[in-house]
Amino acid sequence: MSKKENNPEITKKPPTAKKPSVKRKSDKKDEDWIKDIIPKQRKSVPKQQKKQDLSDIAVSQIPGIGPAISEKLITSGYLTLAAVGHASPIELVEHCEIGEQTAKRLITAARSQMGIGFQSAKIMLETRQKLVKIPTGSKSLDTLLAGGVETSSLTEIAGEFRTGKTQICFQLCVMTAMDKKYGGLGSSAIYIDTEGTFRPERIIQMCNKFGAPAEEVLNNIHVGRAYNSDHQMVLLLESPKLIKEHNAKLMIIDSLTSHFRAEYAGRGSLVERQQKLNKYLHQLLRLAEVYDIAIVATNQVLSKPDVLYGETTFPIGGHIVAHSCQTRVFLRKGKGEKRIARVIDSPHIPEIETIFAITSDGIADVVVND
Ligand code: GTP
Ligand code: MG
Repeated sequence: MSKKENNPEITKKPPTAKKPSVKRKSDKKDEDWIKDIIPKQRKSVPKQQKKQDLSDIAVSQIPGIGPAISEKLITSGYLTLAAVGHASPIELVEHCEIGEQTAKRLITAARSQMGIGFQSAKIMLETRQKLVKIPTGSKSLDTLLAGGVETSSLTEIAGEFRTGKTQICFQLCVMTAMDKKYGGLGSSAIYIDTEGTFRPERIIQMCNKFGAPAEEVLNNIHVGRAYNSDHQMVLLLESPKLIKEHNAKLMIIDSLTSHFRAEYAGRGSLVERQQKLNKYLHQLLRLAEVYDIAIVATNQVLSKPDVLYGETTFPIGGHIVAHSCQTRVFLRKGKGEKRIARVIDSPHIPEIETIFAITSDGIADVVVND
């Protein structure tokens, strides 16, 4: 299939531009230039294939692929052209039992179809503006995260026990799985539970706040219990099918590091643990991008009492986790229901903090009593 056939924007007539309201030059805000550029750009023919379109192209449409190879790729979880285009030959050989030459040929064909290469920052801006932001239930937390948890991205939520990591994950599931008429995304969520702490009862409580039918929301959340790190990795390989089948927009890993930490204890196994964790994180990153899904991973923290100045607790996983997660949020306990969230690393959000609450209805803003 040619790029032209895949891209509805090429065949569609450009939307008729609305008459601009009369505005004096001096009234324009600094950020208005973005609004000026984007509509103009939409009218022109984009040179690159859009990422959203690519996530819908089936693997069987890679030029020159036969039904047997196509079947092998699908069985191994490579469902789309983009999934193959983002893969490495060695990985396809390992997972799909195909020859190295075939793997290289398929990847090249997929990449040329995708138009992988450089793209203008303007097109990147347009693509980023279309990303979905999942609300957290708290307006102040949404503001901290520049609108909510972003799709096509890996977000880490770290903090001590009882700081609300799991509660935020539950709330994000509800916001994703709930119908649009109740303020949700009307999509579905995948939950990889490594600690056995998923509680449907809590989801029901959170639904009640919005008057949303809990049964429908629960049906849209797909939970996989991971019993060890190996199982956690297997569940991830199985997830592309689930994502496509249910049009999932959110995937939770609660928690990212608990199995790795328990199984690879001691200094002697640290290198092996970090290598496995690194591989897992890279799979997560690619999954987020290929399927345009928000991935949220919780992480425990480590106490370093010998530190004299500054922070004494650090998220587990060291530099590997730090460099892989695009947005890192650190939680602390406050008084009673209050919790403090701080963005500790993000390419587009400053290091600021905010307060939110864990209530019986879920994640909420702190009520200020005069
Ligand atoms: P670990 O998994 O142990 O590391 O902790 P976590 O950060 O995941 O903690 P979690 O998100 O499970 O938060 C637990 C806290 O949420 C509890 O200490 C309670 O303060 C709060 N919480 C849980 N359920 C309810 C509820 O029904 N009502 C209220 N008000 N708070 C709740
Ligand atoms: Mg938890």
